[in-house]
Amino acid sequence: MEFHVYETAKAACEAAGMLLGAQITRKGDSVLGLATGSTPIPAYETLVKWYNRGVIDFDRIVTFNLDEYVGIDHKNPLSYHAFMDEHLFSKVNVRPENVHLPSGHSAAAGAAYDAAIRAAGGIDIQLLGIGRNGHIGFNEPDDKFTYGTHVVTLTENTIQANARFFRSPDEVPRQAISMGIGNIMAAKCVVLVATGRDKAEAVYNTIRGPITPRVPASILQLHPCCVILTDTEAASLMKD
Ligand code: PGA
Repeated sequence: MEFHVYETAKAACEAAGMLLGAQITRKGDSVLGLATGSTPIPAYETLVKWYNRGVIDFDRIVTFNLDEYVGIDHKNPLSYHAFMDEHLFSKVNVRPENVHLPSGHSAAAGAAYDAAIRAAGGIDIQLLGIGRNGHIGFNEPDDKFTYGTHVVTLTENTIQANARFFRSPDEVPRQAISMGIGNIMAAKCVVLVATGRDKAEAVYNTIRGPITPRVPASILQLHPCCVILTDTEAASLMKD
């Protein structure tokens, strides 16, 4: 695991964007694993800036997102698909047919997503945020790790954290479909970004804690190419 601390949240997130951009320059048909949430926004801004300068081209890029709410249509502005359209897809030349987000709420839908990732040759670089409870891609704390794409019931903690995007916590969907730890671990490289004081415990437990499904991100200790980028606040418990 590589761990880098930046002075500001923006610098940490932009560094993640640069790692994705570098991957695109190395391999024009890269398969990117993408994430939603507040943290990746500056990473996507960096990619859009490089695209506008002609540094990177998305024409042959394939993307797979980590997760999507269940029961929300992709045209709904609160869907993760709409988020991706707003922050990245509408601003670069990625082909709509190369863009994938999980959908549905059945085991078959999950298996189809796993198969699509495999058919694309696997994910070259996976961008991740982290929840305050250590979740990655809505893989919530549990008694065991869940490997394939699956439907998850969101924890109260996550519903409250995501309520800021909705009019009230009651409107936050209770379920999501998430890529699963196995797909994340199978990515060739993983870049996790965490910023702000409220992520400090999750960062500490991910890097220094025991590997446990109670802190889903802790399994990244076993990933052969995992980079964790944080600001000083999210690294504040890592001092010794
Ligand atoms: P955030 O979400 O970037 O909005 O904090 C991260 C996550 O919950 O994975």
